[in-house]
Amino acid sequence: MGSSDDDREEWTAATRVVRAGRDKALTGPFVNPPVIHASTVLFPDTDTMLGRKQRYLYGRRGTPTSDALESAVTELEGAAGSVSCPSGLNACSVALLSVLSAGDTVLMVDCVYGPVRHFADTMLKRLGIETIFFDPKIGIDIADLFADRTAAVYLEPPGSLTFEMQDVPAIAAIARGKGAKVIVDNTWATPLFFKPLANGADLSVQAGTKYLGGHSDVNLGLVAANEAGWPALKETHGTLGLCVGPDDLYLGLRGLRTLAVRLDRQMQSALTVAEWLTHRPEVARVLHPALPGDPGHALWKRDMAGASGLFGVVFDGWSMARAKAFVDGLALFGIGASWGGFESLAIIAHPRKVRSAVPWSAEGPLMRLHIGLEDPGDLIADLQASFLRTDGL
Ligand SMILES: Cc1ncc(COP(=O)(O)O)c(C=O)c1O
Repeated sequence: MGSSDDDREEWTAATRVVRAGRDKALTGPFVNPPVIHASTVLFPDTDTMLGRKQRYLYGRRGTPTSDALESAVTELEGAAGSVSCPSGLNACSVALLSVLSAGDTVLMVDCVYGPVRHFADTMLKRLGIETIFFDPKIGIDIADLFADRTAAVYLEPPGSLTFEMQDVPAIAAIARGKGAKVIVDNTWATPLFFKPLANGADLSVQAGTKYLGGHSDVNLGLVAANEAGWPALKETHGTLGLCVGPDDLYLGLRGLRTLAVRLDRQMQSALTVAEWLTHRPEVARVLHPALPGDPGHALWKRDMAGASGLFGVVFDGWSMARAKAFVDGLALFGIGASWGGFESLAIIAHPRKVRSAVPWSAEGPLMRLHIGLEDPGDLIADLQASFLRTDGL
């Protein structure tokens, strides 16, 4: 489905998030695409049905609402096609299943989102697919890990707990030379700040639950594919019978329209808070690739056009009890899973439990912060108060 009939090449992503997926043939004079609740779709006659000569065949196989979101994501990712999935995790697993068969091996970055590691360690293993985890810093040395049946490489730049960047273009170039597909979880940067397909990946995954939805009220996943990855992705998604309810698709579309302004604000606020934290004596390290001192900064600067509002803070020699008290005492940061919404969140993370290639070692407990749309000055005051309250604990 064409997203808009007067597309201009020079339009930036900020303009595209407002316009993408709004096919006038479907929306008519309305600004927003219709929210179609449908399973059965009727055909005018048997020939049309048997010949599948109609654009829409059955609710599960696509509706104007799913087309609107998927075509918007296709446009933003510079893809050949996209599918929508009921969660981000499901988008990750569908992407993997679309490129792997029994007997294959997948190379997976060690800082991968924990439930994707679990999927690899359990279901992929049961299907006869081996997973080899590798150091996020591996770069071109990944060439040494390829064997005859290495079919895919899975990346997450930066990892959503430890924020280690990966050299996507270098790894993708090697994978391509070896005939393996590359999957990138692009949830942190979103297609506004990073274009995995233009950097050599075949599939770009996004947990739409996070920044795309943006309001902590929907679980949603998207996978965008290049020409090489698209046929198998579409087939796998269809075979598994995946589809997303129309109201959740609509929440994704609604979030998309403000993605650029929210991300811009959250990036700036997060950098303000992160920078402030780097000067605190209680903090050993701030894990944020957009900070000049971060080990991943050069890669981030080279590859990404911006940063989101999620980063890590390593407390210097603190006990776990003090770290917990710090988080529990915050007034403006909720304690909860996920991120990408309008509200700030703080959690204590346990990367040690989800590593196998390179052990996680740090100077103290790790807190992950998600910076929302609150005033960054208020957030800093809240953090400052918690530092004072926990002093000496
Ligand atoms: C990097 C990353 N990918 C994927 C997911 C999965 O998204 P969902 O919670 O919608 O399944 C998450 C969720 O936290 C995530 O952080």
